[in-house]
Amino acid sequence: MTSAAVSHSVAVAPQMMGANFLNLLIVDDERSIRDACREVALSLGFVTHVADSAEHAYRLLQTQNIDAVLLDLRLPGASGLEALRHIKSQRPEALVVVVTGYGTVQSAVQAMKNGAYEYVTKPFSIDELKLLLERVANHLKLKSENRMLREKLKSKQGYGGIVGRAPEMEKLYRIIAKAANSTHPVLILGESGTGKELVARSIHYSGPFHDKPFIPVDCGSLVPSLIESELFGYVKGAFTGANQAKDGLLAMAEGGTVFLDEVGELPIDLQAKLLRAIQEKEIRPVGSTRRIPINLRILAATNRALEQAVTEGSFRRDLYFRLNVLSLRIPALRERREDIPLLITHFMERAARASGQEKILSDEAIKVLLAYDWPGNVRELENCLERTCAFTSGPVINVADLPPAIAGAQSAVPGNGHGNGRPKIVPMAELERQTILNTIAELNGDKLQAARLLGIGKTTLYRKLKDYAAQSV
Ligand SMILES: Nc1ncnc2c1ncn2[C@@H]1O[C@H](COP(=O)(O)OP(=O)(O)OP(=O)(O)O)[C@@H](O)[C@H]1O
Ligand SMILES: [Mg+2]
Repeated sequence: MTSAAVSHSVAVAPQMMGANFLNLLIVDDERSIRDACREVALSLGFVTHVADSAEHAYRLLQTQNIDAVLLDLRLPGASGLEALRHIKSQRPEALVVVVTGYGTVQSAVQAMKNGAYEYVTKPFSIDELKLLLERVANHLKLKSENRMLREKLKSKQGYGGIVGRAPEMEKLYRIIAKAANSTHPVLILGESGTGKELVARSIHYSGPFHDKPFIPVDCGSLVPSLIESELFGYVKGAFTGANQAKDGLLAMAEGGTVFLDEVGELPIDLQAKLLRAIQEKEIRPVGSTRRIPINLRILAATNRALEQAVTEGSFRRDLYFRLNVLSLRIPALRERREDIPLLITHFMERAARASGQEKILSDEAIKVLLAYDWPGNVRELENCLERTCAFTSGPVINVADLPPAIAGAQSAVPGNGHGNGRPKIVPMAELERQTILNTIAELNGDKLQAARLLGIGKTTLYRKLKDYAAQSV
């Protein structure tokens, strides 16, 4: 090695001029290696910076916007691992690829534990380096795209935790604000999973009774014979098993809000009793002759066309008018597709906070999510991302990691995003390519182990990787 410091030199690939630069710092004391790495990096569009010692690298990290580092673990006068720690503390976001000598895998493993993104063993081929740097570039690109989505989201939160900036949503926020300041009943309409309960909560929590109870009642799931006692409560001895008096849900909501979810499912005889309670502002618990005054706000929701139920006679017209003083309709997700990216970012961030692990969606996966029809609306999107984040082991979520119904809907009919029930057809060669690349990614780039797990020879694996690299140029 030479002790003379290499002066800082920056090289920019011509095709990257004016574009979004990725800055790569190459730290190696061997000039020939630096030059070779720099040539490959330039050909891939990186802006390169070189350093021949750890000290030199630290100085560059202070002044340059370094995105990735290629770090030789055997540097003169410094422990490679210490250099790695120093780099990570100076620039936690930077991806560090460590270069180790043959037979020092142990230190590579140590480096991965200390936050290195990848490792490569000397001697390595130009192709190997190229593939590796391509992966680094890809990862950085996805990271910055995900970051951009996040930045966008910051200004895209609507009312009370409701995500969405589509014009229909803006209109909705205005109605919610109006509803929150009144005490009239509100009927909330919307398909399943559009956020009816979320809207009900935000009306309650931004209104004057926000410190009083919010009691949701799922009219669809209550046992018909028990609904009356659930809603109105009962006195001791009212029926077999009523060993002591119990307050009903309406009494529990005293001073606050009761949210009658799926109100269209309420049996017709209960509809009459509910109407009386609302009109007279009092309830009579089951088995009691006494009426108890109540003071509460009623919000109701339905995903059925209640008007039709009224025409058919299964829902009381007078109750419908009572509940429908103010009504608002939440649009289906497919009617406000511009909100899908915001919701994706919202749920990805939430999953990252919950698990402490940040995952990134690949370009293709984002495309699939944006094109899908979301018949189950926001709830379906939320479930999809929660499950996918939990079950994907690597840092990047690919199309293959998405639920088959969603991944398949896109590829069955390219471009229109509507599933047609036909199975997804993927050529064998593409399946093989995805399997190989995914396996290598899962194993943090360990190609030997990937070959072993896939049951193919190391040479075969390298030949295939070379072919893929050639195809992608
Ligand atoms: N605009 C939104 N922003 C953020 N989260 C949302 C939004 N809309 C819905 N959600 C989330 O999606 C899930 C479903 O919402 P919610 O339960 O309010 O829907 P719903 O219309 O009541 O559904 P269902 O008819 O199935 O009962 C919840 O976890 C909710 O927090
Ligand atoms: Mg609901």
